[in-house]
Amino acid sequence: MQITDKVYYVGVNDRVKHRFESLWALPLGVSYNAYLVVDEQVALIDTVDVAYFGEFLDNIRTVLGDRPIDYLVVNHMEPDHSGSIALIRQYYPKIKLVGNKKTHEMVQGFFGPQSPRDITVNDGQLLSLGSETLQFFMAPMLHWPETMVTYLLGRGILFSGDAFGCFGALNGAVLDRDMDIEPYFREMERYYATILGKYCPPVRAALKKLSGLDIRMICSTHGPVWAEHVDRAIDTYRRLSEGQTEEGLVVCYGSMYGNTARMAEAVARGAVQAGMRKVIVHNLAVSPMSEVLADIFRYSALAIGAPTYNGGIFPAVDDLLKRLASRQVSNHRLGIFGGHTWASAAPRLMEQYNEQMKMQLVEAPVGWKQSPDADALGAAKALGAALARP
Ligand code: FEO
Repeated sequence: MQITDKVYYVGVNDRVKHRFESLWALPLGVSYNAYLVVDEQVALIDTVDVAYFGEFLDNIRTVLGDRPIDYLVVNHMEPDHSGSIALIRQYYPKIKLVGNKKTHEMVQGFFGPQSPRDITVNDGQLLSLGSETLQFFMAPMLHWPETMVTYLLGRGILFSGDAFGCFGALNGAVLDRDMDIEPYFREMERYYATILGKYCPPVRAALKKLSGLDIRMICSTHGPVWAEHVDRAIDTYRRLSEGQTEEGLVVCYGSMYGNTARMAEAVARGAVQAGMRKVIVHNLAVSPMSEVLADIFRYSALAIGAPTYNGGIFPAVDDLLKRLASRQVSNHRLGIFGGHTWASAAPRLMEQYNEQMKMQLVEAPVGWKQSPDADALGAAKALGAALARP
């Protein structure tokens, strides 16, 4: 599929995988995007998951016929993009792999010895394809150490790797102007929260570095090609990486027999009575973790509630706290509530997690024993009201 003069989309859709990285739900599927730049010499930008190699090769041959590929630019080594490198080398034995020093180390580790033809590039280095020129910029830790981006000089096209990508398979169109983009922007938030959420400082560094480029089109490795919505895609990543939120409350809880659930409903009610209108309640035993994380990245306040379980925090809540502690979501107001039957531990342990999360605790944790009474439910409502205050 031609995107613009000399640039073709040769990626594939995956509507089979249930969980990306075996972790994150894929209700709309995912695409693995790869591109060809066809000039006097031909560059393939990234590959696809090896499970789709046959379709990928067909896509390449539809564009190139029997013409060889001169370069394979490897922007990112995670196997959803690098997985077909070994087979591409078999089908195109003279191809030269283009990557940075870390890329080549990883290629060697995943796929065996480097070829003497392979090319190691540094930040800002150019590669001429004839009349077109590629330029490489290192963008480490987006979200692996070898990540880099490739810029097609003169045309303003950025091959950005995972950056500016999103979940969601492509439904008959590749360019944003040919589709309803709203589901993809929602998927972008879920993608950012799950895949890049730990790496906000490197994302900000990359955005700063790329800000001097004239970017007219973004060809990422997942989701639509951004042509009409380049600014919105960049702004979404900037907003998320800077921890910018909108006013709203996410109430997350685990509950075995409904007592913590009642407290969660009371927190939500208290927030609404205090004037907050965007309130989302997640039962962590039911809600997909990726949706929960995306909502937490979006909204300014968070309430977390758990019963004490085996002397610790109820596991589904403990899991969320672990994930939050390893992500950059400190710019939040936080409320904690936790119940117990004979010995309290959850509220204290949840508060300890906040030493890593570094959120602003709006009140001391709310605790109760066995079933919450009117006082406990009143305290939960008051917690919701406190969280509703900006
Ligand atoms: Fe889409 Fe980090 O691989």
